[in-house]
Amino acid sequence: MTTPLLKVENLRIALAGDGVTYDAVENVSFEIGRGEAFGLVGESGCGKSITALSVMGLLRRPLSLAGGRIILDGKEIQNVSAAEMRRLRGKRIAMIFQ
Ligand SMILES: Nc1ncnc2c1ncn2[C@@H]1O[C@H](COP(=O)(O)OP(=O)(O)O)[C@@H](O)[C@H]1O
Ligand SMILES: [Mg+2]
Repeated sequence: MTTPLLKVENLRIALAGDGVTYDAVENVSFEIGRGEAFGLVGESGCGKSITALSVMGLLRRPLSLAGGRIILDGKEIQNVSAAEMRRLRGKRIAMIFQ
């Protein structure tokens, strides 16, 4: 079996409110193969953009990665250093913002 280019496993994104934390994204999993075009579809506000931001390592307060794994070409990247993430961004992963 070939390694998927991107694998998102049980992604959870927390949204910190006033003394309460909500799950903005709850257990989202998908895989994208090399050369594959992948469409993530859903109603406005369902979490598509923040899912993409989490892959880019760009979640900022009040949003944070609360669980799951993001695996780029076989390597877990959800806990890599900010410096390593900056090396990946633009070179291996990019985002066209809305
Ligand atoms: N910076 C933020 N602060 C608070 N809530 C946010 C922030 N960014 C996104 N959200 C909320 O997270 C949810 C998912 O948003 P988003 O990923 O932008 O949805 P979409 O699927 O339309 O791209 C929405 O309820 C949105 O209001
Ligand atoms: Mg969006």
